[in-house]
Amino acid sequence: MTETPLPPKPTPRADKVSLLRYLQLFRRDILSAQPARLYRAWMAEFRTPFFHSYMCNDPELVDLVLQKRPNDFPKSDRIREGLAPLLGNSVFITNGPVWERQRRIIDPAFEGGRLRDTFPAMWDASVSCVERLRARADGQPVEIEAETSHAAADVIFRTLFSIPIENAVASAAFSEFRAHQKAQPIVNLGALLPLPKWMPRFHSRAARRTAASIRSLITQLTTARMAAINAGTAPDDLATKIMTTADPVTGDKFDTAEMVDQVAIFFLAGHETSASALAWSLYLIALYPEWQDRLAAEADAVIGPDIPYFSIINRLKQARAVFREAMRLYPPVPMMVREARCPEKFRDRAVPKGAQVVISPWHLHRHERLWERPDAFDPDRFTTPNGKACLRSAYIPFSTGQRVCPGAAFAMAEGPLMLAMIARAFRIAPVAGREAMPVAHLTVRGKDGIWLSLTPR
Ligand code: HEM
Repeated sequence: MTETPLPPKPTPRADKVSLLRYLQLFRRDILSAQPARLYRAWMAEFRTPFFHSYMCNDPELVDLVLQKRPNDFPKSDRIREGLAPLLGNSVFITNGPVWERQRRIIDPAFEGGRLRDTFPAMWDASVSCVERLRARADGQPVEIEAETSHAAADVIFRTLFSIPIENAVASAAFSEFRAHQKAQPIVNLGALLPLPKWMPRFHSRAARRTAASIRSLITQLTTARMAAINAGTAPDDLATKIMTTADPVTGDKFDTAEMVDQVAIFFLAGHETSASALAWSLYLIALYPEWQDRLAAEADAVIGPDIPYFSIINRLKQARAVFREAMRLYPPVPMMVREARCPEKFRDRAVPKGAQVVISPWHLHRHERLWERPDAFDPDRFTTPNGKACLRSAYIPFSTGQRVCPGAAFAMAEGPLMLAMIARAFRIAPVAGREAMPVAHLTVRGKDGIWLSLTPR
């Protein structure tokens, strides 16, 4: 019997390398910079002259850091340094009372009922995405990450501001964002992880300029929206919801400037991640075409010819299973870093105050002592006892605990919907000689893009 080939996984580095080599590898790509033993270890300590960090793969430690005592493991200032030019004082990088207030105002916008209201905008973005792809469905190679980024940015602008990506300000912000990523390659995990202080953060002039330009475009949108709210003419979308929600504790609302910071993170966290997850989902169904047929059949049965209602999302079970499995194998946010606020003891090992604590969905999701066939693509696994158990204790693509992604339910509606719509419309195949290989930028991306060819079904 021939074995089904496994989906791509970076080759880990040798167990022992010099510090210099480690730092070099680390800056190039943190996934391949790690040794293979991390897929089996419950915990690993990295001690260099510049940083001291602990990777925790033991589900109990993950639970401790993210759920049980999150206030003792805040985000570190280094994360802020890396992202501040673009994100200002946004909810992604704040801690303590400032963060608590921001979440109290933001969270209601993403609750179940509101999600239902965003469905028409997600639907329109999915239809537009399929139309754009139809123009390219001639069997020639398509770099699909660029397409999924476009589609995910479209969803964000439509749901937040009721404007499609073709809107002049939206498309300018999207293209400035691409320029920003080029100008600031270190807006990757290297900036989030404990690099020594002296290592340049590369806030180049170009990066500062693009960050300022993105923020000025977002300012135009939020200023106009504030005026519309005051005039009673604002559309009922996520931006209006967030800007009119009073903090239940203090009674105050976001002013325009505070909203700019939040929109910047919704845009960054909401489109890069969803784009990555959708691109890998498409790549995986290209590698395993029997899943395309399952998704297409499901979509035909569930979606039908008319504009559907939100409830279809719950019925796209196969699409959800594929999207979930794609985020297990390629978690868009592969690692998260916290700082120990006081001395700790992890698995009988002393962890000093100030140590970096790394939670790695990448390793947890492929842990050899937790998952059966951890490197295999098997969306049906979530119906097995092992899959169900791991879903509870070893699956955290959206993090968990108080800092869990507020957009998780939003992303779990958008992703499977787009996946189902694309699978229904096209046959998708990998491109010979252009196999994808994951690397960690800000999110997990294809080293040289993710290439697919599409033909109409
Ligand atoms: C597949 C899609 C997505 C994935 C995998 C994802 C994943 C994550 C993860 C892992 C975090 C925690 C990061 C950390 O603690 O260091 C996070 C935070 C966040 N995400 Fe998402 N996300 C997704 C989509 C979205 C969307 C669509 C939005 C909004 C529209 C969003 C908004 C945010 C915000 C605001 C935070 C910061 C929350 C806080 O620190 O309190 N995300 N996301």
